[in-house]
Amino acid sequence: MFRTHLCGKISEKNLDTEVTLSGWVHRRRDHGGLTFVDLRDREGIIQIVFNPQLSESVHQQAHALRSEYVIQVTGKVARRPKETENLNIPTGKVEVLAEALTILNRAKTPPFLIEDEEDISDALRLQYRYLDLRRPAVQQIFIRRHKLSQAIRQFLNDHQFLELETPSLTKSTPEGARDFLVPSRLNPGNFYALPQSPQLFKQILMVSGFDRYYQIVRCFRDEDLRADRQPEFTQIDLEMSFIEMDDILSLMEEMILRVFSEVCDRKLPSPFPRMTYAEAVSRFGTDKPDTRFGLELVDLSELASRCDFKVFRSIVSKGGVVNGLNAKNLARLSRKEIENLTNEAIQRGAKGLAWMKVTEDGLEAPITKFFSAAQLNEIKTTLEGEPGDLLLFVADKTQVVHDVLGTLRLSLAKKLNLIDEKVFNPLWVTDFPLFEYDAAAKRYTAIHHPFTSPMDEDLPFLKSEPLKVRAKAYDLVVNGVELGGGSIRIHQEEIQSQVFSLLGIAKEEAAEKFGFLLEALQYGAPPHGGMAFGFDRMVALLSGVESIREVIPFPKTQKGICLMTSAPSDVDARQLKELHIKKERIL
Ligand code: AMO
Ligand code: AMP
Repeated sequence: MFRTHLCGKISEKNLDTEVTLSGWVHRRRDHGGLTFVDLRDREGIIQIVFNPQLSESVHQQAHALRSEYVIQVTGKVARRPKETENLNIPTGKVEVLAEALTILNRAKTPPFLIEDEEDISDALRLQYRYLDLRRPAVQQIFIRRHKLSQAIRQFLNDHQFLELETPSLTKSTPEGARDFLVPSRLNPGNFYALPQSPQLFKQILMVSGFDRYYQIVRCFRDEDLRADRQPEFTQIDLEMSFIEMDDILSLMEEMILRVFSEVCDRKLPSPFPRMTYAEAVSRFGTDKPDTRFGLELVDLSELASRCDFKVFRSIVSKGGVVNGLNAKNLARLSRKEIENLTNEAIQRGAKGLAWMKVTEDGLEAPITKFFSAAQLNEIKTTLEGEPGDLLLFVADKTQVVHDVLGTLRLSLAKKLNLIDEKVFNPLWVTDFPLFEYDAAAKRYTAIHHPFTSPMDEDLPFLKSEPLKVRAKAYDLVVNGVELGGGSIRIHQEEIQSQVFSLLGIAKEEAAEKFGFLLEALQYGAPPHGGMAFGFDRMVALLSGVESIREVIPFPKTQKGICLMTSAPSDVDARQLKELHIKKERIL
């Protein structure tokens, strides 16, 4: 038997009993003729004492121990002398007096210490991910991840959802990213796509009458990676029949409340507030607002159209907008610091960043001369400016203004320490437009995905004014993170075909790509809808870490590389030949 107990579970309850433990040497110290070893396993760390008076030979053996050796120790649990208690760890009142020691395996000196506090470069952590994953705080994240998926499964099982699997080798499911393709050996020249989500399969499971489906499922998207995106990530994916939007929102809200409280003892405000897309974008510049702080955007276009500041007036006259934002208490910023903010805005796409400082005497800035006293007063009032505030303005196309000020808002909040990290602010964002116009491609694209149902009352505009049509779509945003999204789907073939045609997908293409869906919809598809949560994002949020890389056991770098295995890698010519693939020289 390798062990009778786990290291971290030994307590005063085990006093005077003989235990056998197995684990890793966390640290070895020689002190006053004794040798101390902190022995570590998943459950924690316990101190082992090697005393020559108890066994000279075992004490001798302990001298060979090095960090990360794997050992087995047998001995009695004893109370630590009062002055040597370590109240920072749960086992800190006891120790094990070693009577026998077996070295199960040696270890090379690790490239970094297996300590939570170690500051290790990301590259080194990922290359030696197995060692990184030994660090206690890192292990806690994955224990939390496990508990969260179990709690979610339990909730969905309790609510009559069936866990069903959908294929990984499949046809493209458009979620707005590029597909990863897999060549088919048996079908020369043909490719499977790895699913960007199980979207179409879960809809078809509803057509089959399964009523409620879920899956904790890997999705693949070949997109540019950021802190909250990985090329493969996990969704909590679900779908329900005979439901309306409110049914899904309230059930999902119940699920989030329950699992956040069960797993992390976090209570969220309930009911979750709701905000329309239009309101989110105009107040926060984004459809995933962080509502933990103010610094809201204010539209000043009408006023700007009347002022003498040419930049503002001409942009408004060309259909652009001017928005302002009150950076509270930042009038103290130096010219240089304002210049840095300006550069940040320019990097994000702005042509400049106009500003005014609020003083006891009113607004002060080089550009105030272009505004009448009444206008300055109006600006100050609208932005609720108080002495000491800095007012910032961006003029441009709506999209650019929202993007720039939305981003500036976040970075200012960090600078000003306005974010209460302890708070979770959930928000349902609803009433998304169904389409947006892609000016470069000169066509409409679906904001959620092409299977999302238009709102009934907007159906009349589907042909005439597609941009006016709102979708039965919803996102759950927490602290500015899009945790999940979903929609009521189109369950009628005619509407689905009409939407495809509006998206510029010709009949033949629709038949070729989505024929199976269009056909299934004609065999008695029930009204249905669902959503998917980004599971990695959920774990990251609950763990208080910025990047989802921290919560994925073997994540990839920004360039999509696994530093531990060096994937992706070259393959040999024979393999390519079998797959009927010819390699072009990469320039
Ligand atoms: P969507 O594309 O919004 O919807 O994805 C759902 C959620 O998945 C997470 N997510 C990601 N997480 C990590 N890395 C990525 N690259 C990544 N991309 C998305 C986000 C997102 O909210 N089929 C629809 C859902 C539905 O309509 O039911 C879908 O996939 O948290
Ligand atoms: P200029 O007249 O170009 O010297 O700009 C005067 C001020 O207006 C500078 O602080 C610029 O950064 C700012 N500015 C220029 N273009 C814009 C714009 N589109 N939106 C907001 N501020 C601008």
